[in-house]
Amino acid sequence: MSRAGTLRNYHEVERGMASGPQVRVNGKSCLTFCCQDYLGLSRHPAMLEAMREAVDRYGCGMAGSRFIGGTSPLHHQAERALAALHDGEAAVLYANGYMANLGSIAALAKPGDVIFSDELNHASIIDGCRLSRSEIVVWRHNDVEDLRLRLQQYPSAGNRFVICESLYSMEGHFAPVREVLSACAEFGCFAYVDEIHAVGVYGPKGDGYAAQLGLSSQVDLLMAGAGKALGSLGGYVVTRSDPAALLKSRSRAFIFTTALPPAIVSTVITATELVVDAGLLRRRILENARTLRSWLREADFDCMTSESHIVPILTGSSETTGRVTQHLLADGLYAQGVTYPSVPRDRGRLRIAVTADHTLDDLDRLVSGLKKVRNQVASFPRHRSTE
Ligand SMILES: Cc1ncc(COP(=O)(O)O)c(C=O)c1O
Repeated sequence: MSRAGTLRNYHEVERGMASGPQVRVNGKSCLTFCCQDYLGLSRHPAMLEAMREAVDRYGCGMAGSRFIGGTSPLHHQAERALAALHDGEAAVLYANGYMANLGSIAALAKPGDVIFSDELNHASIIDGCRLSRSEIVVWRHNDVEDLRLRLQQYPSAGNRFVICESLYSMEGHFAPVREVLSACAEFGCFAYVDEIHAVGVYGPKGDGYAAQLGLSSQVDLLMAGAGKALGSLGGYVVTRSDPAALLKSRSRAFIFTTALPPAIVSTVITATELVVDAGLLRRRILENARTLRSWLREADFDCMTSESHIVPILTGSSETTGRVTQHLLADGLYAQGVTYPSVPRDRGRLRIAVTADHTLDDLDRLVSGLKKVRNQVASFPRHRSTE
């Protein structure tokens, strides 16, 4: 593995309290472009207050699983708040987004069922599908024609589930959610949509991309998390009816693990309140993303198919990607390179996350830094702008 160059490097990142996207990486002052605190809520005074108050009242941990001593009134309050945010019937709060996908898919789908999974779905979805022991049919990324063909080819006496993400974080583009949902309705399948990167940033109250399209009621199972735009930690699944009770009785990743600490759960509740009124932050982050994309494309960088606040920049091979990220770090810019096996071998990229905290000066600094690096790394791909 190490010979194949696939060992990952972990940088030490220190995020101060009042410094926006300014962080320290391996002890060096840097501007970060890989923080998923999209709206900056992790440092919001109300979030800090919620956490402090809960620590003072309840201590640091529940010291029990949700089933055995670990469900506080706050846990139920958070689940009600998350269900309300998404206009759902009920929500199930897991320790994180990975567990939410793994545990809910494995519990909902069973042998004899068929899961139709987009080929670029996140590792947690893939692992949940495998654990379910259902038949797994992978459909071409975002290709609804291919999905429909496979729905015709794979009937089942059991249940059928279609699983996709609403916003793909390695590509920065959306799924054709409307078309996927209508295929689900036509073929009688459950629609499971991972909205973890869209919640907070899209939708009239930050309730996600399906909500932005006015289609929330057609999503049978909405999965998301509090570890990104909600500025905290946790994963959740919002359901329209019974499945929430079923998950709480059957989902091993929910039952057999220590419950989230009350202080975390308290911030999840606060975030569900803050996010509803975060229209200004939503406008700011989307404006930042549009500006960055247009500056990058003007400067001949390839932002691939980005149409969201996630703006990947194509760097090509793993070797080039590694060199680009090193040069950027040396220049005080922290942009995570993503390489094989997370993406195809020649499609390495910088996964830039724009936030509402970035200023125009920050974005300008990134583009200037990238231009400098392109003079140092000849293999950095160029792209003729079409926008
Ligand atoms: C699409 C998707 N789903 C689920 C997860 C897991 O979420 P968490 O980081 O809360 O475990 C991620 C993580 O980045 C993700 O990108």
